[in-house]
Amino acid sequence: MSERRPLIAGNWKMNGMRAEARRLAVEIGTLRMSQPDAEFDMLVCPPFTALEAVGQVLENTSVYLGGQNCHASEKGAHTGDISPAMLADVDCTHVILGHSERRTDHQETNEQVKAQAQAAHAQSLIAIICVGETLEERESGKALEVVCEQIKASVPGDASYGNTVIAYEPVWAIGTGKVATPADVQEMHSDIRKTLSEMLGSEEAEGIRILYGGSMKPENAKELLALDDVDGGLIGGASLKAEDFWTIAQSCPSIS
Ligand code: 13P
Repeated sequence: MSERRPLIAGNWKMNGMRAEARRLAVEIGTLRMSQPDAEFDMLVCPPFTALEAVGQVLENTSVYLGGQNCHASEKGAHTGDISPAMLADVDCTHVILGHSERRTDHQETNEQVKAQAQAAHAQSLIAIICVGETLEERESGKALEVVCEQIKASVPGDASYGNTVIAYEPVWAIGTGKVATPADVQEMHSDIRKTLSEMLGSEEAEGIRILYGGSMKPENAKELLALDDVDGGLIGGASLKAEDFWTIAQSCPSIS
């Protein structure tokens, strides 16, 4: 059993008007505070427009707040973008970077993700760097190679277990109800950790949390979260229902 404290993170994606977001945050905050000593961290990442409202609701809970993306620059002429400092200004502690939906919808590259992570670190934000293979890459036997290349190219040299989390999200498992097999997930997470060790040294690599994401649900969470190198989940659909999100959090194995 690992000593890494599990992180259960909800990526709300483009869902939630402020009233709805506030309601969901109240429910999640209340559930979390019903077990303040439970040995896992919880994080929610609402859309930018709901960050402040959700942050106010979560203020006296231990649920962390994160953005879903940020720009690599501090400020300036970048219409439609949000800087890491702006996220910190609304009390975010985390930011998701390089999600496959950003890589596909906005053509974000590994190099950009790396620069965004460095910029996030400069504002003391924890970067959650997402990687994952497509179905075609999995079926052609290239999944491990593709994902480790993404790690090498998107994780900056200043990454540490204090400022970086990795999320492995097979693209074909996101929002589809299809989940990678526990054996495939463990193999991938172990390879990711090996790659991080080559890049950053074994101490950092042993401490960095690697989350699984892709159709994680109350029904499959326990099995996935029990895997040696799985240190939590990045949850989309099921994070929009407080009870489901909480059930997933409660499926975390206890820390030894
Ligand atoms: P789902 O849990 O809806 O498959 O989404 C996963 C995800 O993309 C989280 O970032």
